[in-house]
Amino acid sequence: MQKTMVAVVKPEPKAGSEICEVKVPSFGPRDVLVKVKVASICGTDLHIYDWDQWAAGRIKPPLVPGHEFCGNVFAVGDEVTTVKEGDFVSAEMHVACGKCFQCRIGEAHICPNVKILGVDEDGAFAEYVRIPYADGSLYHFPPGGDEESLVMLSDILPTGFECGVLNGQVKPGDTVAIVGAGPVGLAVLLTAQFYSPATIIMVDVDDNRLAIAKTLGATAGINSTDGHAADHVIKLTEGAGVDVAIEAVGIPATFDICQAIVAPGGRIANVGVHGKPVELHLEKLWDRNISLTTRLVDTATTPMLLKVVRSGKLQPSRLVSHRFPMSDIMKAYDTFGNAGKEGALKVILTNTEPA
Ligand SMILES: NC(=O)c1ccc[n+]([C@@H]2O[C@H](COP(=O)([O-])OP(=O)(O)OC[C@H]3O[C@@H](n4cnc5c(N)ncnc54)[C@H](O)[C@@H]3O)[C@@H](O)[C@H]2O)c1
Ligand SMILES: [Zn+2]
Ligand SMILES: [Zn+2]
Repeated sequence: MQKTMVAVVKPEPKAGSEICEVKVPSFGPRDVLVKVKVASICGTDLHIYDWDQWAAGRIKPPLVPGHEFCGNVFAVGDEVTTVKEGDFVSAEMHVACGKCFQCRIGEAHICPNVKILGVDEDGAFAEYVRIPYADGSLYHFPPGGDEESLVMLSDILPTGFECGVLNGQVKPGDTVAIVGAGPVGLAVLLTAQFYSPATIIMVDVDDNRLAIAKTLGATAGINSTDGHAADHVIKLTEGAGVDVAIEAVGIPATFDICQAIVAPGGRIANVGVHGKPVELHLEKLWDRNISLTTRLVDTATTPMLLKVVRSGKLQPSRLVSHRFPMSDIMKAYDTFGNAGKEGALKVILTNTEPA
């Protein structure tokens, strides 16, 4: 058993989260055991914590959640060649076999054997986490890195960059709108600036997040509570609309804003996970030469993002608002779950060594 406090989803009859002891994971020849040092809570973890419809359909409890983390390699399977005991690593949120056709063409996220840590396999909100297919799933970090920034490389940075900035083809001089100033929208904001867009307009219902966005490079913030965000963006752009509209919320209302503000020839890049259908307004868009993209993050850009983080030019640790020891994980979930009231963005969990 690992003497640690973890949040697990309990088996029926009453699914939900609680703290308990779990076994140290066993590991096979292609696996690695990592001693978790720093982790971070993601919106996906909240779905499991709240045991919503998505979680009930996908999760097989009991489960240790958590897919954003870094730590030291503790034990190595016989066939693993790329890391050794003591190495400081983080894993991709989805671990894939590395051998199938999809993996070999760089599309590991659609590998038939893909598993999301903390969703399909026990994850990182514990003392130890097992990383399957470790050779293809681990990122080796040099010593002395900014650990809180490295944790942001597990998910939000590649998500914002790949699904938002790359798919939206942000270019120098562009006018960009990012709808949603949560951690993912703010990661879009940080990485969009690689390409020097002239204007970045953030749209959210939370003034605190809009204010943070301004400190991170947004040129304007629009509160969409009044239901007229699209009109405000059109006015701000003197009627032109935006070259790139990035949806980083995942609800019909914000997808609608993107459709209403995209300029002729522009791009809509959807990042949000949508639980409900949206209306596609082709009656307005059919002759506007727009492109619409969707994408599941594949973390192919993580090595590049790591280089930029190491250079200090990208500091995603600026998104950290709260820090808790792993043993206070329930408090951390409450804080993150009440982000508006608590002023929370990214919440960090740290495993402290026993005295
Ligand atoms: N495509 C992918 O691979 C991928 C990967 C990770 C996350 N995601 C998705 O990205 C989305 C954003 O993630 P997050 O962690 O930043 O979520 P979040 O819930 O923390 O942030 C969403 C933001 O949207 C704002 N918002 C809510 N309703 C709004 C409205 N009507 N108008 C404007 N703003 C509104 C909220 O105030 C919040 O700041 C989620 O849907 C998440 O599931 C996608
Ligand atoms: Zn995540
Ligand atoms: Zn594969």
